[in-house]
Amino acid sequence: MATRPRPISRSGRFRGGPDADARRFSESVSFDRRLYRQDIAGSIAHATMLAQVGVLTRRERNQIVRGLKRIEREIKNGRFQWKEELEDVHMNIEAALTKRIPAAARLHTARSRNDQVATDMRLWVKDEVRSLKLEIRNLQQALVDLAERTRLTASHRPVILNSQLSIFNLSLLPLPGYTHLQRAQPVFAAHHLLAYVEMLQRDAERFADCAWRTDICPLGSGALAGTGIRIDRKLTAKLLGFRESSANSMDAVSDRDFAAEFLFAAALTGVHLSRMAEDFILWSSAEFGFITIADSHTTGSSLMPQKKNPDVVELARGKSGRLIGNLISLLVVLKGLPMTYNRDLQEDKEPLFDSADTLSAALPVLAGMVRATAFNVETCLRAVRDPTLLATELADHLVRRGVPFREAHHAVGAAVRHAEDRRKPLNALTVKEWRDIHPKFGKDVSGSLRLENAFRSRDHLAGSPSPRYVESQLQGWKNRLKRPIP
Ligand code: ARG
Repeated sequence: MATRPRPISRSGRFRGGPDADARRFSESVSFDRRLYRQDIAGSIAHATMLAQVGVLTRRERNQIVRGLKRIEREIKNGRFQWKEELEDVHMNIEAALTKRIPAAARLHTARSRNDQVATDMRLWVKDEVRSLKLEIRNLQQALVDLAERTRLTASHRPVILNSQLSIFNLSLLPLPGYTHLQRAQPVFAAHHLLAYVEMLQRDAERFADCAWRTDICPLGSGALAGTGIRIDRKLTAKLLGFRESSANSMDAVSDRDFAAEFLFAAALTGVHLSRMAEDFILWSSAEFGFITIADSHTTGSSLMPQKKNPDVVELARGKSGRLIGNLISLLVVLKGLPMTYNRDLQEDKEPLFDSADTLSAALPVLAGMVRATAFNVETCLRAVRDPTLLATELADHLVRRGVPFREAHHAVGAAVRHAEDRRKPLNALTVKEWRDIHPKFGKDVSGSLRLENAFRSRDHLAGSPSPRYVESQLQGWKNRLKRPIP
């Protein structure tokens, strides 16, 4: 008997239509329509497989595929009529297709929306990871380029001379490094910038790792218990480019770990962007003055005419809130769900979409901001001239002369206080004053007060801000970023 196609969820089981409020409450097509490409790809693979196993004829399969491709074009061109009463993207597409191609009434054979939506979501996450890795790479490149622009050139000679710093043989801009936001030890601006590049690399790897576990095809799991119809799961998985098929039908339709992992990777990336943003905000303030962010990435105040605010970076910092929130939202949705599919799982989409959108907006804007940033060499040199940055070098100087570190630490602390009490810089103490503080401080104490020596003494140490190491890191990253993204 030929049956008239009807909305899948309102089958013969129902007498009346749904309550209007209930329908509005449960629809997802307003947001899950963005899965249309993945949904159509999934249906094409499923139809191809159904033809292979004899559920559809070749002709029917080809008609269905052509119909789906036409619908895809219509959606892309904004000519498709989405209907809220058809609930979600899956039923909208299937209903439109069945209206045009009667054979499409067989398309849902051996498939449930439960394995269908899980498949769509996985395909979507895989696509999203691919583009996010590109965006991350782009920001890394901007940071490496900025690190490259911290190179000291002949044009900086007068400023260096003026700074009275012993850095004539250094090729990279030095900067105070901070712990507890207190000046700690000297580093290179490039070393600092490459720290973000490392963080972002871990983010990219985390996304790739998430994509690897996402790369499992749930099709064939049906609603929760598979199907008695003889289908070929291997074929659909292969057609959709999945690494393999899921091993447990119940797990496959209820699992959203891949979405949670994606949201965690996004949240942590957001936290990294936020920390980076914070440094740029601090550095661009009058108090630090280390960098200037170009007008293109700053805004004025509506009241104070002198202001140039780092709003773009502040927003990047602020957006970490929703990235973290989205992760928590999904974890709370998942917590306590009984096996297997529950409609709560529809709540996985909006957080997922929002995090992906937030990151793919923030990453390029931040890359642009980094490109629009320049270091103020003079201010940086003035800051790094602070001799207390070398206090640890002085302690190490005593250690090299056989003094136990704790004793050396105490002696240098006393020297800092002594200098502070006399209101003079640490490097203005006389040889006699040094000797009085600790007999092992000799004439050569001045060597430890040379910035350049602090850097050079680390040349043996991988991971340190030594000129040799930072240069090799910079070169290494330049090469690495040229390689194709795996
Ligand atoms: N819109 C639903 C979701 O996103 C699709 C799956 C519906 N399945 C069901 N049994 N009602 O989760």
